[in-house]
Amino acid sequence: MNVFEPAAIGSINLSNHLIRSATAEGLSTSQGFCSAPLTTFMVRLAKGGAGLIITGHMTVSSEGRAGERQLCIWHDDHLPALMDMTRQVHEAGGKIVAQISHAGIFANTSLTGEAAMGPTVRRKSDATICREMTSVDIRKTVKAFANASRLVKEAGFDGVQIHAAHGYLLSSFLSPHYNSRRDEYGGTAENRSRFLLEAVQAVRAATGDNFPVLVKMNANDYLENGVGIDDIIYAATAMEAAGVKAIELSGGTPESGKMIPARRGSIKPENEGYYKEEAKYFKEKIGIPLILVGGFRTLSVAEKFLQDGICDFIAMSRPFICEPDLIMRWKNGEQNYSSCNSDNLCYRPVHAGKGLYCLTQVRKKKPDVSLNPPSRSRY
Ligand SMILES: Cc1cc2nc3c(=O)[nH]c(=O)nc-3n(C[C@H](O)[C@H](O)[C@H](O)COP(=O)(O)O)c2cc1C
Ligand code: SF4
Repeated sequence: MNVFEPAAIGSINLSNHLIRSATAEGLSTSQGFCSAPLTTFMVRLAKGGAGLIITGHMTVSSEGRAGERQLCIWHDDHLPALMDMTRQVHEAGGKIVAQISHAGIFANTSLTGEAAMGPTVRRKSDATICREMTSVDIRKTVKAFANASRLVKEAGFDGVQIHAAHGYLLSSFLSPHYNSRRDEYGGTAENRSRFLLEAVQAVRAATGDNFPVLVKMNANDYLENGVGIDDIIYAATAMEAAGVKAIELSGGTPESGKMIPARRGSIKPENEGYYKEEAKYFKEKIGIPLILVGGFRTLSVAEKFLQDGICDFIAMSRPFICEPDLIMRWKNGEQNYSSCNSDNLCYRPVHAGKGLYCLTQVRKKKPDVSLNPPSRSRY
């Protein structure tokens, strides 16, 4: 299989097998509406040759917000600016899927003004309490995912991706580390995947049979008593039966130490594809397309993963921050690796409300540019 061959995920026809993984842009307006700079950002990615763009996480409800200037998608008022964005991306030849999310434990309480909620009560690292969700909260949140997906479809996106990775709400229910409930949402793999499955079914019902639904999940949490690949296979089998069109495998949470989703430090080609072993196992068991993210930096490595059948699509996040036109460059036969050094400085402007950009590139031109605020690698 050649990375530059066309491919499909459900009804989405991609011009190649290389995907921009969801990356919080922090470029919406302060009220969470799509802005002109965000549209321009997406059009650059489309022109740069990514076979599919997955947006940064868009929050399905006010209490699920994760960060400053995060896109919001719960009201018809959010539609017009998003419609304009999808139209411009399509005119530029791109395909775009919206990632929808609830931050759960990692909701930004200074933005939401209320306590974070998750599967089980716990004290957070900032000493605030995350409260345990009631069954009413769960039903309300399932409806919020369904409502958001209806808006995604109306806004003209090519599909929707449910964020169930990185310790966010749906991911935290899957993980025994976070979930010690004793009701039908905790305990067995079946119970821990129930919330995600209900969200998938509600999203499928809200968007209809022909609208592609994708899910991003953790292959491993790297936490004590965390989720493991067998739990994920259980959940993925249920997703496949529920009509999900592709699963993206990622890993880690903001609390996973060195094993956070965006690991810091330069990556040797032999270490690219953090979840290679889990992906091989996944491919033996699950029939729907597997998108693999995590540390891909070299075209020849991406080619090898596809040729060896380890996954069906390669997704990248940070390489597209410093080079939105990376795929065009690779296709033109220029230097076969990404110039991203994975130092994670790009988190800083997003957390400071300044929008996503490669701070390392800026600092190469202007070394005295401030490094404040301190780094927090989340999303
Ligand atoms: C600045 C930044 C923002 C991110 N935002 C999201 C997000 O909104 N949703 C998500 O699922 N992952 C998010 N991620 C994680 C990436 O999608 C990806 O899983 C991770 O960075 C590893 O891929 P990479 O090595 O290609 O960067 C983000 C990563 C970075 C660096
Ligand atoms: S700041 Fe630039 S070089 Fe550093 S990880 Fe982010 S995109 Fe890569």
